Amino acid sequence: MTTEERRAALEAIAAEVSTCTDCRLAQGRTRAVPGEGSPDTEVVLVGEGPGQNEDRQGRPFVGAAGSLLQELLGMIGWKREDVFITNVVKCRPPNNRDPEPDEIAACQPYLRRQLEVLDPAVLVTLGRFSLQTFMPGDRISRVHGTSRPIDPSTGARAATGYALYHPAAALRQGSLKETMQRDMAAVPDLLIRARAERAADSPDAEEPTDAPDATAQTEDASMNDNEQYGLL
Ligand code: URA
Ligand code: SF4
Repeated sequence: MTTEERRAALEAIAAEVSTCTDCRLAQGRTRAVPGEGSPDTEVVLVGEGPGQNEDRQGRPFVGAAGSLLQELLGMIGWKREDVFITNVVKCRPPNNRDPEPDEIAACQPYLRRQLEVLDPAVLVTLGRFSLQTFMPGDRISRVHGTSRPIDPSTGARAATGYALYHPAAALRQGSLKETMQRDMAAVPDLLIRARAERAADSPDAEEPTDAPDATAQTEDASMNDNEQYGLL
């Protein structure tokens, strides 16, 4: 797909989301929040669901948690427009309650379609609901800062998943901010490795002359990171 085709496909999904009534969250919302970002990005960040500010503006992560997320991205030299940011549920749960399993299930096709269009190399989960969606059965306190392959049935065909705490958790518990900074700092290296894995797996991969060396170097270079950050 070209950039323009991806942009159009994402806009079509967003248009459907904005009028969706597939679950009870439609009743309490002001605006649905489909997500936004670069149609060309290799990195998708998935949060939990819109809060009050997001519900008013129809945009993801524009409140206090969004400011922290932006700060964390800035630390690695990235801007929010460089990535794609969305949520597990696209409409605000009343009083910011947790999304219910049936609401997550009802909204899942939108996220799946977004991921099919974007085909990210790295999928960053923010918080436990996103973690549960992409890496079921793991506890965030144990697996934050670690990566694993994403199940292609989620729509992300060949992505490496990476678990972060939710920025809102770091706003409630200040000590988590440093943890989030450390975890975020490992994302650029993770992207380089994820790219190399995708290139090696792709059917039209280059003749295996230069590629294995480059891959080996990347893997060697990241061994320290693996130990330091507990990446798989
Ligand atoms: N928290 C989320 O999980 N998503 C948002 O978009 C904003 C806050
Ligand atoms: Fe539709 Fe998702 Fe909003 Fe539910 S949360 S109404 S499934 S867009």
